[in-house]
Amino acid sequence: MPRLRKVVFPVAGLGTRFLPATKVVAKEMLPVLDRPLIQYAVDEAVDAGADTLVFVTNRYKHAIADYFDKAYELESKLAQAGKNDLLALVQGTLPKHVRCVFVTQPEALGLGHAVLCAKPVVGDEPFGVILADDLIWNGAAGSGRPGALRQMAAVAERENAGVLAVEEVPREQTGKYGIVDAEPISERAARVRLVVEKPKPEVAPSNLAIVGRYVLPERIFELLENTRPGAGGEIQLTDAIEDLLHESSVLAYRFEGTRFDCGNKLGLVQATLHMALEDPALAAATRTYLAGRG
Ligand code: UTP
Repeated sequence: MPRLRKVVFPVAGLGTRFLPATKVVAKEMLPVLDRPLIQYAVDEAVDAGADTLVFVTNRYKHAIADYFDKAYELESKLAQAGKNDLLALVQGTLPKHVRCVFVTQPEALGLGHAVLCAKPVVGDEPFGVILADDLIWNGAAGSGRPGALRQMAAVAERENAGVLAVEEVPREQTGKYGIVDAEPISERAARVRLVVEKPKPEVAPSNLAIVGRYVLPERIFELLENTRPGAGGEIQLTDAIEDLLHESSVLAYRFEGTRFDCGNKLGLVQATLHMALEDPALAAATRTYLAGRG
């Protein structure tokens, strides 16, 4: 498979689990410490070698476009005040060689539909998908440890296959995920035989759940065009992946790193505490606070 250059960020979901905040703020703009979830996701895509980022938004989500745009007034005020550290933070949301493209998903018809909306921008090449509300942390950029998408892109290139990020989840939670049945080919990779969307624990083929990272061939777009609404009346990406399995190789990959499900409140709290405990300026005070709570 050719080198990964484009990454799609579906950010058009309704984010109902964070209402009322998500009445006006996209879920992906919720912060973990001082950075929104989408910044962690973009950093991971850039770490994987992407130079084109495709955001699939709904018409209410201007904040994401604004966030990656130049903030003229703020930047000139910070420059005048000589606050160069803050200026660097504001200007550092996106490296210069990376471009952003925004496409609209007119209606929230499901993740598969959102990915299909990116087809005109992605064109004829493999691409990555990152769901920013799944924060996967393998150390900061510059730590020397590759992000999850970089690990997956390397496997996709080497094995000439689509790659799905997977993680073991407790059996009782299989109904919340796409679950794979896969045959191991190495320590972290397995060839997918079957994917099932949100199976009940008693019929789930395993407890290996697909989480928010994918490397997919362009063929997935044609398959999505022919995918009928599935679970929940939505066009499911998992259903198109099931079709892809019949014609080409798809691997499940157990990434190195820690995933925080920031699509729900507890996950966002856990991610925030994790980052605070890793931050030299916050670690001691956070630990003291937590110890005091028992
Ligand atoms: P979720 O299943 O987490 O749904 O979507 P949601 O609407 O964002 O959140 P809740 O469940 O109502 O709280 C998974 C990912 O797919 C995107 C979301 O933005 C999220 O990144 N998505 C989902 C779309 O872009 N469009 C859709 O139609 C559905």
